[in-house]
Amino acid sequence: MAKEWGNQGSVKVRRQNEYSRLIKFAAVLLTTVFLFRNYITETLAAHWTQNPTKFEAKCPQVEPLYPSQSTKELVDLEEYLTSDEFRNKSIEKLAGAVRIATQSFDDIGPVGEDPRWDIFYSFADYLSSTFPLVHSSLQLEKVNTHGLLFTWPGTDPNLKPTVLMAHQDVVPVPDSTVEQWTHPPFSGYYDGKFIWGRGSSDCKNQLIAALEAIESLIEAGYIPKRTVILSFGFDEEISGHRGAGHLAEVLVKRYGRHGVAVIVDEGMSVIDNWGQVWAVPGVGEKGYVDVEVTVRMPGGHSSIPPEHNGIGVAGELITLIEANPYDPYLDETNPYLSLLHCGAEHAPSFPNKLKKLLDKRDRQSTCTKKHGKDDLALEAAKLGPAIKYLFTTSVAIDLISGGAKANALPERTQFTVNHRINVGSDSKAVFTHITALAAQVAKKHDLALIPFNGTETPSSITLSVYKILEPAPTTPTFEPRLTPFDVLSGTSRAIYSNELLVAPGIMTGNTDTHYYWNVSEHIFRYGVGWDKEQVGLGDIHTVNERIGVQGHVDGVRWFVQFVRNMDEAEL
Ligand SMILES: *[C@@H]1O[C@H](CO)[C@@H](O)[C@H](O)[C@H]1NC(C)=O
Ligand SMILES: *[C@@H]1O[C@H](CO)[C@@H](O)[C@H](O)[C@H]1NC(C)=O
Ligand SMILES: *[C@@H]1O[C@H](CO)[C@@H](O)[C@H](O)[C@H]1NC(C)=O
Ligand SMILES: [Zn+2]
Repeated sequence: MAKEWGNQGSVKVRRQNEYSRLIKFAAVLLTTVFLFRNYITETLAAHWTQNPTKFEAKCPQVEPLYPSQSTKELVDLEEYLTSDEFRNKSIEKLAGAVRIATQSFDDIGPVGEDPRWDIFYSFADYLSSTFPLVHSSLQLEKVNTHGLLFTWPGTDPNLKPTVLMAHQDVVPVPDSTVEQWTHPPFSGYYDGKFIWGRGSSDCKNQLIAALEAIESLIEAGYIPKRTVILSFGFDEEISGHRGAGHLAEVLVKRYGRHGVAVIVDEGMSVIDNWGQVWAVPGVGEKGYVDVEVTVRMPGGHSSIPPEHNGIGVAGELITLIEANPYDPYLDETNPYLSLLHCGAEHAPSFPNKLKKLLDKRDRQSTCTKKHGKDDLALEAAKLGPAIKYLFTTSVAIDLISGGAKANALPERTQFTVNHRINVGSDSKAVFTHITALAAQVAKKHDLALIPFNGTETPSSITLSVYKILEPAPTTPTFEPRLTPFDVLSGTSRAIYSNELLVAPGIMTGNTDTHYYWNVSEHIFRYGVGWDKEQVGLGDIHTVNERIGVQGHVDGVRWFVQFVRNMDEAEL
């Protein structure tokens, strides 16, 4: 259409009579106008073709997504999944899984040596008898003994697989807290609405829902186009390297770097923000680093003490660290920035002040955004600490030890500073920050400063690191092309209601997915079952963990539809 206008314009430039000068002037004017319109129209057209429904919007919502292909069996399945009969069976399956106490302990020994791992054999047996079709139709590999990797090969080997993750292990229940549970922690008690017990919502619900979905699809005769993989680690609560660490390695070797289309693991579910209900699949995770600080100063008898000893100096440094926290900062890739855009665009009670700052920021240059004072982040931080730390590096001194005797000066005082690193920052920035603070204290007390990887000397402050995890790469969300985020969004809006909007979420904690960054670019930490009557995360990691059955059953329906939608998506 734009091209035709251009031709008309040039046709009109032809002149043949004595009014030629006037006509020429008019023609030039017209041509200019036409060419300009032509340019604008072409630009618009380019936008529209790339992105017909998302033009200009920062938080475009995809329509509820239903698979276009079906069979009688699949239609029957959809109905069956909403029946009481299925609900009852589902309760049995999840409650049975909760009754097997697959606790992972911080001090547990190697797999194959420490007998506390043996319970995972019982869990695998339970899954095998509860999901016979999954076990007869899918290939099952045991990775590092207890890692479970199921593969359901698709008919089109050119399509990248869908991976569904969950972990088999649960946080231990200390003996001292058993009494506080309304229903015993490994009872799987069903009270008519909730299933109670450790692991019921973190995250045996997700694991069992994925298996129920695949079992049902097999029963309905479904044959996937895209390979479906279930990958279940067994030590997520104590780092995940034995389970997820090994499973991810197998997947990268088998499918290549980023050879998997999408990963869905446990994570965030639904929040109510600014008068709007949002599903917030986690598309990013903050980083993590523990810095250990060791202050070495001369010992001696405490009856003739120096003005400051090791404990005093350590205390001074701790005070300095707490007095110099990190500023809130919203990197362009921080999912919370997208959530703010979503709020501004769709939520009825989004704060006006934030909206103004957001607009102002959108007009700024990239350089100002990166290096200027982040007024938007400072304002958003006022929403409370739980929000502020979604875009601020946190600092907490969590461990301290020093001194051996009441009448002896401490020779070695140690403390550990835990950091959760902001998206857009990295561990290096943390090292620089804490090194500068330690240098001030070292200088004042005439101590050597030994920053990272050095060897401790008698009068010194030494810094060392023993766990580093950089912030996760952010999963693509609102892109001009179709992405797995769109499939996930459309599936959620179809299962739950199109009044539910979908926005990017960010996790302050870490999941097993941090081993999977090379497996796929499209990682979602998403609790797929949403129980409308359950607020928050269902007391995970504490007493009275429980899961609403309706949310669990809807989670099964979600997985079934997601697998089918992924099969039809041209990704
Ligand atoms: C489901 O279980 C409830 C109570 O446990 C029972 O009353 C009901 O009849 C069962 N429904 C079906 C269809 O099995
Ligand atoms: C310590 O040394 C290791 C290996 O040489 C290196 O990768 C790491 O970056 C160093 N750490 C710091 C904080 O300099
Ligand atoms: C991803 O692959 C690179 C290159 O092989 C490797 O250095 C890195 O550790 C891997 N990342 C993860 C999270 O496994
Ligand atoms: Zn978990």
